[in-house]
Amino acid sequence: MPVETRRPLISGNWKMNQNHFEAIQLIQKLTYLVGKDDFDAVDVSVHPPFTDIRSVQTLIEADDLRFALGAQNCHQDDKGAFTGEVSPVFLQKLNVSYVIVGHSERRELFGETDATVREKVAAVLRNKMTPIICVGETLTEREAGSTAEKVTGQVAAAIDGCSPAQVGGLVIAYEPIWAIGTGRTATPADAQEVCSAIRSTVGGRAGAEAATAVRIQYGGSVKAGTIQELMSQPDIDGALVGGASLDPEEFARIVQYRLHESPGV
Ligand code: PGA
Repeated sequence: MPVETRRPLISGNWKMNQNHFEAIQLIQKLTYLVGKDDFDAVDVSVHPPFTDIRSVQTLIEADDLRFALGAQNCHQDDKGAFTGEVSPVFLQKLNVSYVIVGHSERRELFGETDATVREKVAAVLRNKMTPIICVGETLTEREAGSTAEKVTGQVAAAIDGCSPAQVGGLVIAYEPIWAIGTGRTATPADAQEVCSAIRSTVGGRAGAEAATAVRIQYGGSVKAGTIQELMSQPDIDGALVGGASLDPEEFARIVQYRLHESPGV
């Protein structure tokens, strides 16, 4: 599959922000800012907190909006005695399309391991949704020169057990932990280098077709001013946007990166 057939995916990870009233307002504002031409060129997903998902789903379906609905996490089992957890089955029933899996905040703050991530990837696929698998190195790991080893190890662990066809349909988000919420972005060249290593790892595990098809996002302080140069890298197919996705004008400008006149604008 030629590179140009990979559709870009820009995803807004709202984290633990926006109650369901605020969520509706944010989607309504975005609806005025993101137009048909944008959706024709780019897939756009929004990932509100669980308590907002039903409200956002209702709005998307009532107004026929082209935002894809996403979640930020789910449990690896379909049901059971897991107090406080949310089943992937429930998300699928709400027409959720994408589920973020293994975000570094989940790994660091909630003890998710590569093994948990692998189970969640399987759970999301079993329920006919697309996982956005997050991988990334800490600053210490980057300074020690172990970025590629860390990131490709996380990728290999996450896709273990998936068929080549499943792997081709995945989204992998490369998010250097030191760049998340810090205002520091990896240089486009550094991000490209790691995303290329991710694609090679996918190729080694699942074959060339899966490697060409898999979509790789960059995440970590993405802003309207940095998106275009990131998106011009051959192995970067989209962005996972945190803080900037809460500002409708900024997020819309990120989605519209094609329209910016020159890199950095
Ligand atoms: P940020 O978050 O854009 O605020 O750095 C990205 C993420 O954590 O997905």
